[in-house]
Amino acid sequence: MPAISASAPGKVILFGEHAVVYERPAIAVPVSQVSVRVVVLPIPTGRPGQILVDAPDIGLHSELSQLPSDHPLVLLAATVQSELKLSHLPALSLWIKSTIPVAAGLGSGAAVSVAITRALSEFLGHPLPDERVCEVAFRIERKYHGTPSGIDNTVITYGQPIYYVKGRPFDRLSVRKPFIMVIADSGIKSETAAVVGDIRNHWQADPGRYETLFDAIAGITHQARDIIEDGSTKDLGPLMNENQHLLHALGVSCPELDRLVKTALDNGALGAKLAGAGRGGNMIALVEQTTANAIAQSLKSAGAVRTIITEVQTSSKVLAGNRPC
Ligand code: MEV
Repeated sequence: MPAISASAPGKVILFGEHAVVYERPAIAVPVSQVSVRVVVLPIPTGRPGQILVDAPDIGLHSELSQLPSDHPLVLLAATVQSELKLSHLPALSLWIKSTIPVAAGLGSGAAVSVAITRALSEFLGHPLPDERVCEVAFRIERKYHGTPSGIDNTVITYGQPIYYVKGRPFDRLSVRKPFIMVIADSGIKSETAAVVGDIRNHWQADPGRYETLFDAIAGITHQARDIIEDGSTKDLGPLMNENQHLLHALGVSCPELDRLVKTALDNGALGAKLAGAGRGGNMIALVEQTTANAIAQSLKSAGAVRTIITEVQTSSKVLAGNRPC
């Protein structure tokens, strides 16, 4: 068995986070500047079922059997095994390297699931098609992230801009005119499951208020889709600002994200909003090519722990394929 590697990109939500959990549409794009890479290697002298995990970023060096039974990697390996209808896994080692910050709204968990599922299934001689990779990753998301919409695993599996409504086939977005975003990390860790759970409690207590906010976000996302497909991308800026106001009203922004949004706008961004679950993590700003570096710098001066400048385009898959090492 040759060694196999696979990668998966990060992601960012342009419009519609939280509302997407309640069957409203959202738009997400892959972010290829950050990624997870997984290498699966045989252990020729190992015993059947022996799996060594090496994930230096999180200081994990262990046999899978030594991890708690509810560890995500244990569930992931078992899910791939059952998808492939294998009685056992051969001895192998799993090396996982990620540049996607965790709990920051960039899809790190889903990217790990996608990259491992791809690499492991190919290593085992039955590479799973995208549809099933996406399903496996969604199963893991559901187990560990409360009530996810499925947008993270979908955009990361397919590696393309998508328009997504929970429970429906997604649409690939064709980006008429590429545009540039600065992504800035507030440095505050925020667990998606906790924020989504909190919004659910508020929604249950006052469904009318939250349904109205979700409908307003849905209206913005619809308009954004038309703009992205038409190519009048500057018009996305005001929509991002409106989306941010609504996210603020939902209670998922925080002073640090508000400060970064304001900084981006004060320095010439066309629009800005938080991206992902909120209460920490990342924000995004729509910028012009000529201002991108200066806005990224101003965000760092305002406290961002890191920035990424990314171009959104209709691209063929980035970093999403398997390849022998
Ligand atoms: C997380 O990236 C986006 C949320 O809308 C949750 C979800 O869609 O599962 C906050």
